[in-house]
Amino acid sequence: MSRPATAAIPRLPVLDWRTFTGAKHSSTPCLLDLPRAQLTHSGRASILLALEMLGVGQGDRVLVPTYHCPTMIAPVTQRGAQALFYPLRADGSPDLDWIASQNLDGVRAILAAHFFGIPQHLAPLRAWCDQRGIRLIEDCAHALFGVSDGKPVGSWGDLAIASLTKFLPVPEGGCLINNRLPGQAFPSLSSPGIKSQLKAAFDIIHVGVNHGRLKGLNRPFSGLLSLLQRFKRRGEAVALQPSQAQIAANEADVPDDYAESFDIDLGQSHRALTAASRCMAQYAPRERIVEGRRQQYRFFAQAFASSPGFKPLMPQLPEHCAPYVFPLWVDHPDPGYFELRRLGLPVSRWDRLWPEVSEIAGDHGQAWSHHILQLACHQDLSPTELQRMVALVQDVYSPTTKTTNKGAA
Ligand SMILES: Cc1ncc(COP(=O)(O)O)c(C=O)c1O
Repeated sequence: MSRPATAAIPRLPVLDWRTFTGAKHSSTPCLLDLPRAQLTHSGRASILLALEMLGVGQGDRVLVPTYHCPTMIAPVTQRGAQALFYPLRADGSPDLDWIASQNLDGVRAILAAHFFGIPQHLAPLRAWCDQRGIRLIEDCAHALFGVSDGKPVGSWGDLAIASLTKFLPVPEGGCLINNRLPGQAFPSLSSPGIKSQLKAAFDIIHVGVNHGRLKGLNRPFSGLLSLLQRFKRRGEAVALQPSQAQIAANEADVPDDYAESFDIDLGQSHRALTAASRCMAQYAPRERIVEGRRQQYRFFAQAFASSPGFKPLMPQLPEHCAPYVFPLWVDHPDPGYFELRRLGLPVSRWDRLWPEVSEIAGDHGQAWSHHILQLACHQDLSPTELQRMVALVQDVYSPTTKTTNKGAA
């Protein structure tokens, strides 16, 4: 059975007039407000810079989760270090018993993530790291906001990292927090240059216009664009389009950024964040982001609560957090997942594991990489888009559809 592809539902936040509404501050702490923070080009750049600050390199080993996207692992290998994959418990925490049973010679650091934006309990891991002299890099790429064991997310790691594109309508951005390397300066970052500065500002508006979110500006901006293109040489005109990364990140019908290869672009890792993205990080009101995401998450939790074949992985949304995605366990995810991708649903799955990952008995991470669909639940999804997402997922996995798919195969 062939369904028509849906109109693009944005995978990530997009600029909307509503971006500037609501209270500036949220009662849920934001990692960007932590002391000793450095804005960076991306989350992956922040991991690379964190490893650099720790002096991790050739001959060292870094503990990383079996459940990952390649952007978490590439910085480790880029530094010449070896990734040592550890299993996850059912709640997403590192299986410390398994780790302790391994030969940990040469292990300098552990990367631990607040998957899906649901804060992990990091106090036990912090104590474990302190006992062994292993550095903790707290990966808050999914958790720009939140509280973990009574402290703001981002304050447990020796260093912590964040990814801005997942929470704000920006084409690039990350953050690096230094909690426990007193007196150590951040690596120096080069200025983005005027062309990149202009392009970032342009991209932010262009993506909003592409999604029709800037009423009153959509037409004039598109008109201005065609006018500019008419007067530019072809090469320069191409530069007026949003960057491929920005399009790829935000159009629902393109492969995940990790789907094509493990060759992750870290070339911009020592570049400072552009002024436009920096302003968005500093001035975009935060309450709407937190509350919007919590509302979308609860909508999905309710919609899939009693659907056979589905299980919300973490049905109870804890207080004081802003989820990145809604993790949905699907008993028989294939081939439905590929159909959802083809239809343009903003859903992803971390099913491309780093080649060295091996099976570990009792590891929940590897089961997640097959069964967990990550549904976008950002603040810029409308109620209609959410309903369409639920309807499509249920339709694709309905028993009649599965029979039809099998028949067609
Ligand atoms: C858990 C986690 N850490 C780090 C990253 C890297 O962030 P960025 O895409 O900003 O480079 C990602 C990206 O998806 C991620 O999911």
